[in-house]
Amino acid sequence: MERIRFDHPNFKEFFESKLPFIYRPDDDSKNLVDAVEQIQPLIFDHVKPAICLEIGCGSGYVINSIAKSFGSMIVKYYATDINSVAIETTIASGKANGVTNVQVVKTNLVDDLKRVLQNRVDLLVTNPPFEPSPIDDVGKEGSICAWSAGPNGRTIIDRILVEFPDLMSEHGVALMCCCKENDVEDIRREMKKRGFYSKILIEGDGTTSSSYNRIYYQYVVAFSKTNYWKE
Ligand SMILES: C[S@@+](CC[C@H](N)C(=O)[O-])C[C@H]1O[C@@H](n2cnc3c(N)ncnc32)[C@H](O)[C@@H]1O
Repeated sequence: MERIRFDHPNFKEFFESKLPFIYRPDDDSKNLVDAVEQIQPLIFDHVKPAICLEIGCGSGYVINSIAKSFGSMIVKYYATDINSVAIETTIASGKANGVTNVQVVKTNLVDDLKRVLQNRVDLLVTNPPFEPSPIDDVGKEGSICAWSAGPNGRTIIDRILVEFPDLMSEHGVALMCCCKENDVEDIRREMKKRGFYSKILIEGDGTTSSSYNRIYYQYVVAFSKTNYWKE
């Protein structure tokens, strides 16, 4: 899969100047793009996606890599983030990499897109804040809100999962990053109750670009209303 680059001569300085305020793509971000690459046959043979959405786009690494690789094979791309610097950087990193077909929206999760996207999202990707943190750090201004997710790291994850039933199309696939502390099997059980089948696509130790300075055992999990994985 073609990855977007941050080292273009005219863009490098811009990107680096934003780094204290946005999430620098790390192993979690790369795992998410790897997972999309891994399920490409499923995406194009079965899902046949028209709409792709990223929740929490940060630098734009994930959504712009997907849009660069898949181009017009997907009709419409959307990306959201709550942080204005992330929005600005996603647009700029897209442009620097020749990607101009992503609609980037500053909103809390998907609040401003719910009506437009209801049951229409065919490919959803999200690398939410998943690191255990003091509860007071959740949603704080600046880069800390990119990774801080409360005592078991589930605060933002649980809010995102609540949105899946109303967002996802019948054949759509949602891919989400999380870590061991989030209790991946509990997440899968909760989603089963809401009618979603799931499969762990990627797992292993990895770094994140947070200030907590830890290595996390990370996952990328796929969810769908369709039983692609014959659970
Ligand atoms: C771990 S970073 C991932 C960034 C990027 N997707 C990547 O993989 O490199 C999580 C992102 O979620 C965003 N975020 C946190 N809370 C959010 C919310 N309530 N609504 C939208 N975005 C949020 C943060 O600003 C941050 O950009």
